[in-house]
Amino acid sequence: MSEPVANQDIETLFSEQRRYPPPPEFTKQANAQPEVYGKGLEEFWREEGEQRVTWSRPFDKVYEWEPPYAKWYIGGKLNVCYNCVDRHVEAGNGDKVAFYWEGEPSEERRPLSFAELQSQVVRFANGLKKLGVKKGTPVGIYMGMVPELPVAMLACTRLGAPHTVVFGGFSADSLSGRMTDMGCEVLITQNEGWRRGSRVPLKKTCDEAMAQAPSIKACVVYRRTDGEVNMEAGRDVWWDELLQDTSDDPNSCPCEEMDSEDLLYLLYTSGTTAKPKGIVHTTAGYLVGVATTHHYIFDVKPDSVYWCAADVGWVTGHSYIVYGPLCNGTTGILYEGTPDYPDKDRWWSIIERYKVDILYTAPTAIRSHMKWGPEHARKHDLSSLRVLGSVGEPINPEAWVWYHENIGGGRCPVVDTWWQTETGMILITPLPGVTTLKPGSATQAFPTVDAAVYNEHGEAVPHGGGGYLVIRQPWPAMLRGIHRDHERYVQTYWSKYKDTYLVGDGARVDEDGDFWLLGRIDDVMNVSGHRISTIEVESALVDHPKVAEAAVCGRNDPATGQAIVAYVTLKGGDEGSPEMLSELRTHVGQRIGKFAAPANVVFTPELPKTRSGKIMRRLLRDVAENRALGDTTTLADPTVVDELSRRGREEAAKGDA
Ligand code: WT7
Repeated sequence: MSEPVANQDIETLFSEQRRYPPPPEFTKQANAQPEVYGKGLEEFWREEGEQRVTWSRPFDKVYEWEPPYAKWYIGGKLNVCYNCVDRHVEAGNGDKVAFYWEGEPSEERRPLSFAELQSQVVRFANGLKKLGVKKGTPVGIYMGMVPELPVAMLACTRLGAPHTVVFGGFSADSLSGRMTDMGCEVLITQNEGWRRGSRVPLKKTCDEAMAQAPSIKACVVYRRTDGEVNMEAGRDVWWDELLQDTSDDPNSCPCEEMDSEDLLYLLYTSGTTAKPKGIVHTTAGYLVGVATTHHYIFDVKPDSVYWCAADVGWVTGHSYIVYGPLCNGTTGILYEGTPDYPDKDRWWSIIERYKVDILYTAPTAIRSHMKWGPEHARKHDLSSLRVLGSVGEPINPEAWVWYHENIGGGRCPVVDTWWQTETGMILITPLPGVTTLKPGSATQAFPTVDAAVYNEHGEAVPHGGGGYLVIRQPWPAMLRGIHRDHERYVQTYWSKYKDTYLVGDGARVDEDGDFWLLGRIDDVMNVSGHRISTIEVESALVDHPKVAEAAVCGRNDPATGQAIVAYVTLKGGDEGSPEMLSELRTHVGQRIGKFAAPANVVFTPELPKTRSGKIMRRLLRDVAENRALGDTTTLADPTVVDELSRRGREEAAKGDA
């Protein structure tokens, strides 16, 4: 435990001492060498822009920065689909696998080569043309993890039609809101998807959404299952029928020449409150940004089999399943299902089958595997793995170490990559082979990224201090605003500090200048005047050998301002006990300090999470304060909170007695 530091806005107390220097054999062969940190913003991105991407007209200028908007690769012309597909075929790599697709039903799988991908994209783009899609037509996509999803995205980019992909778990209301906000004219979906052995009625949800989204004139339906769905004549068309008589000759549908700053896609961020924001990403800066970071951070080689286990519906999937890897000509895995279907070793069987060398996933998934135990991974040969990645939330040191040891066999660097839908590309991350790793720290800003931690007054906190994470220079994949909402863009990101991007996360910098992410700013608790980050208390709890998962929030308390409530899932289905409760309080007291010991501990078999795996602390606060629950529609499993409320009330009653 370290002493609190003065002149900072979030106290940071949890200290993690383990260090993992880069293995020398890894360093020797690494894509990233220490020199990459030495280049200036303009120099670095000029070189990357020239080398990662094929231009039909070269750019004149690397960037222009008129806060709060940046432009990149000014004057350049290019096409994203050409860069991700056609040029690899032209270079003689048509037979290389673009995706190994694994269906959720265990025996369904097929590889898709770059040549096959090209032929499918061309045919589908020709199909979309029949529906009137052309440069500038907004297209919505609502699908599961099937190869036709990247095919649809790439076909849009081939035509210069901006897309918005809506994650297949969203409700009809969320879908229609997004379709209307972007003014989508075509919606691409499937009849049904698969999830844990049951059918997800995607087309049915689209029907409900389309009833409230009058901009949509046509709906293309890919037939994934034998399920019957409603098809409205004149509006709905089957994917395979649309493709009848379409040519797969690339010359029949040339790649539209796009300007560097043309809109590539919108992606709506769910936001725990308020209306979703349509985050704007444009063409060249985004593509160069994701391809460059993918190359250095994951140490991707020409023969790599790379697996980002996110859903394409989130930004992680856009940047690091589709655009970055395909631009680099990388072979990837596309998996339709969940990690525990049909069994808890499904992921590890996939890694063994395809000899995956790079795995990129989220802390929530790692903690699930931790909860299920390492025996599932031990059944499989994971020796092909070289690099492990994490993204989405702060990774608790115990989960990091578990991942490193049980999945990575102690030999694979773990890259904890910090970024956002808004940033488009990874901004804070170790570089494998260069960086000394610290479990729980995203370590350093990516080359040229100017990240800092500010106090309330806009001063950088000293090493050892905590505060607000900011970015002070533009980067190529940065958002170009919020769709049709300049005011909100300025208000959300650019009003706290002048010409400086406010991330919305708390962070601390340690003695070495490494970054430790502390969660969203509104996840900071104030207990007796101490501002404590939820993640540090959670990490201390998960550090206890019996704890599988923990979520912490503050509730109002007349004595201390806020008091800490912890929701804890124990390993092996253990129900918890009063002894366990006091043991955990003592444990947190020892790891952080008595004032950070939770006032209440609620044992629960599951935590309320969004479908992307983020713990919904807003709901935990509602439960902790005995309020009516706010919006629960984005929960993966809405029954979890009812059970939590019941347990919370029981726990509170005990406290009163
Ligand atoms: C928020 C962005 C970026 C892809 C997935 C999420 C949190 C993300 C990390 C990390 C700590 C992280 C932040 C960020 N976050 N990665 N490595 N360590 N926190 O995209 O839905 O836009 O969420 O996720 O709070 O602001 P998103």
